[in-house]
Amino acid sequence: MNIQWNAGKYTSDFSFVYQYGNAVTELIEAEPGSTVLDLGCGNGALSKALQDKGFVVTGIDASADQLGIAREKYPDIPFYQADAADFSLPEPVDAVFSNAVFHWIDADRQPQMLRCVYRALKEGGQFVFEMGGYGNNRLIHGALAEAFAEHGYEYRNPFYFPSIGEYASLLEDAGFQVRYAILFDRLTELKGENGLADWSRMFVKTPFAAVGNEAEREEIIGQAAERLRGQLCRDGVWYADYVRLRMRACKN
Ligand code: BEZ
Repeated sequence: MNIQWNAGKYTSDFSFVYQYGNAVTELIEAEPGSTVLDLGCGNGALSKALQDKGFVVTGIDASADQLGIAREKYPDIPFYQADAADFSLPEPVDAVFSNAVFHWIDADRQPQMLRCVYRALKEGGQFVFEMGGYGNNRLIHGALAEAFAEHGYEYRNPFYFPSIGEYASLLEDAGFQVRYAILFDRLTELKGENGLADWSRMFVKTPFAAVGNEAEREEIIGQAAERLRGQLCRDGVWYADYVRLRMRACKN
């Protein structure tokens, strides 16, 4: 995963990410007492929500900062540091859950990640997740690309946003059977009068590595936000044009 998290700011200003994730936990069809891995658990908020449903939860995340928050807030949940595409568990679990993580993993590492998930599940276990799907943040990345071009830079969207068909094929190649899939728009309210600029600073890191200096980065972010004001700002409130891909797949 190619991001250095500002874990504190993520928890305070971008809480919608894990708040929306509560609905995804509802897709898990398992009895209380079942074991669940929260893959890419971040600050542990959804690990706790899963525990509150009666599951026996373990969390894995690549970010030491996020895990620091998770361990402090939820000391009775075991959290481990590992890469989602390179992990193994001592015992297989009944379900693997993940929210808003897989779009951070490059397309060429997805098969490896899915093999790890498959290995981590018991026979009959289920894999439930939500990620950014095809067309996610199309307006935002389009406006950033235009602002980059005005400054003489090329913009490459750093995220992986697959369609249902594409991801179902990857899941089947890894041995899963897809039982549920939906791709839907979710205009998502952002916090603060500079909501879109703050979102861009928080999440869009790698394309800006090529941009000369901080002042130019800020200019690009400001120009992109201004381009989008008519479409993504209503009555002073900013929204992100999210498209979600939600799926449940089973190991046999
Ligand atoms: C998402 O949840 O779809 C997302 C969040 C941050 C950056 C890119 C996508």
